[in-house]
Amino acid sequence: MATDSDPTSGNRIRPPHVALVGFGTVGRAVAKILCERKDRSLRLTHICNRHVERKKQSWVPSDVLWTDDFDSVLDSDAEILVELIGGLHPAEDLVRRALKAGKSVVTANKQLIARHGPELLQLAGENGCQLEFGASVAGGVPVLPALRIGLCGDQLRGIAGILNGTCNYILSRIETARIPFSEALEEAQARGYAEADASEDLDGGDARAKLSILALAGLQARVSPETIRARTIRTVDAVDFDYAAELECTIRQISRADFLGETLLAEVGPSLVPAASPFGRVQRNLNLVLTSGKYGGDVAFLGAGAGGDPTAVAVVSDLMFVAENISAQPRAQRDQRLASPKVSCDFETPWYLRFWVKDQPGIIASLAAILSAHQLNIDSVLQKPGFDKSALPFVITLEPCRDSQLHPAIEKMSALEFCTKPCLCLPILR
Ligand SMILES: NC(=O)c1ccc[n+]([C@@H]2O[C@H](COP(=O)([O-])OP(=O)(O)OC[C@H]3O[C@@H](n4cnc5c(N)ncnc54)[C@H](OP(=O)(O)O)[C@@H]3O)[C@@H](O)[C@H]2O)c1
Repeated sequence: MATDSDPTSGNRIRPPHVALVGFGTVGRAVAKILCERKDRSLRLTHICNRHVERKKQSWVPSDVLWTDDFDSVLDSDAEILVELIGGLHPAEDLVRRALKAGKSVVTANKQLIARHGPELLQLAGENGCQLEFGASVAGGVPVLPALRIGLCGDQLRGIAGILNGTCNYILSRIETARIPFSEALEEAQARGYAEADASEDLDGGDARAKLSILALAGLQARVSPETIRARTIRTVDAVDFDYAAELECTIRQISRADFLGETLLAEVGPSLVPAASPFGRVQRNLNLVLTSGKYGGDVAFLGAGAGGDPTAVAVVSDLMFVAENISAQPRAQRDQRLASPKVSCDFETPWYLRFWVKDQPGIIASLAAILSAHQLNIDSVLQKPGFDKSALPFVITLEPCRDSQLHPAIEKMSALEFCTKPCLCLPILR
């Protein structure tokens, strides 16, 4: 017989109760949407945050319980817990305890899902509840729900994306204003697009965590973020955009993962992309994800990758999905077919090599000798006039070869006495 504490009954007489943990940028925006919704298909019952008194808002209905005690939330009758505190501790423990208690969990936490997603999905399945994390990649762009529902009928072969809005803001500002990297970073920090310590963004840590989640959801591959090579964007210079333009390209931080047989080729880093391509046209802090399916071909997702409101929309959409399924049979565990592939960054592409040299006779001949010794074919040599002879940038592009074939040559070339900086080596993605 249905009771009002039994939302799993076929005759449900009350909406699922939702406990929100973490009342920051996203948590606050989620609460606002839930409080303003008219359809009452979800009921916000708890808001949990440390030192909660300072968080209280007058627009939150008086029947919502404010607390700083996780245990009281776990002991409550809320069927769904929304984790929006971020980071691994104490979020991981909280999510595990909630799932073990049979509560479904919605989270936007990329660190948590990138590191522990497969085990947490399994835990959810074992306890007859759900774990959704649609906001953990690309914020308000519904790429993860699309992988889960709209594209699950295809067999995806590859995923590529602009997944970090901070890097895209910086690179597209260097492109349009030809300002140095340091100036573009300061501007991004002043506008709130980059943190004071932006290393996770600039050096690719953030994007590779997101790529590992995309690989989990779209390629059914269990990939630890640390196994994905990440190259920094700090070494990209305004002059690289001049040379890229000569090649009808621009530069973006691209995250990509493609199966090559049983191996997953994956990496994150600045790359040349055609200026007229979807990636080349993404400006400022937007995100773009392209999927490539065996049957359905290419599909693109573009939009705001971050921000309280867009991210909250993704969280509330997950909540509604969970609420609709809460009375259904537990779904088949999504991780049942997960592969644990060998991960490699040995992509085969054409390459862009940029050198800073002290000008002297024989430079091209010395570089060409090393390239030739490694069986690497030069496609073009580009040199812009007007630079000081003591610090002269010039570019060699190479015909397609594997990363592993190129890198020994790069080390040798960077060690030549006329090179004033290590060679910048970027893949050209056509
Ligand atoms: N912001 C975005 O645009 C965005 C986009 C996509 C995904 N996300 C993800 O969404 C999640 C939330 O991000 P956010 O931007 O909303 O973060 P945030 O503004 O820092 O909010 C986090 C909230 O959690 C609280 N909190 C932190 N540690 C806690 C603890 N140990 N116990 C209780 N409460 C704790 C914080 O309280 P205090 O006020 O005391 O610090 C704060 O209210 C993260 O996983 C993030 O990666 C965010």
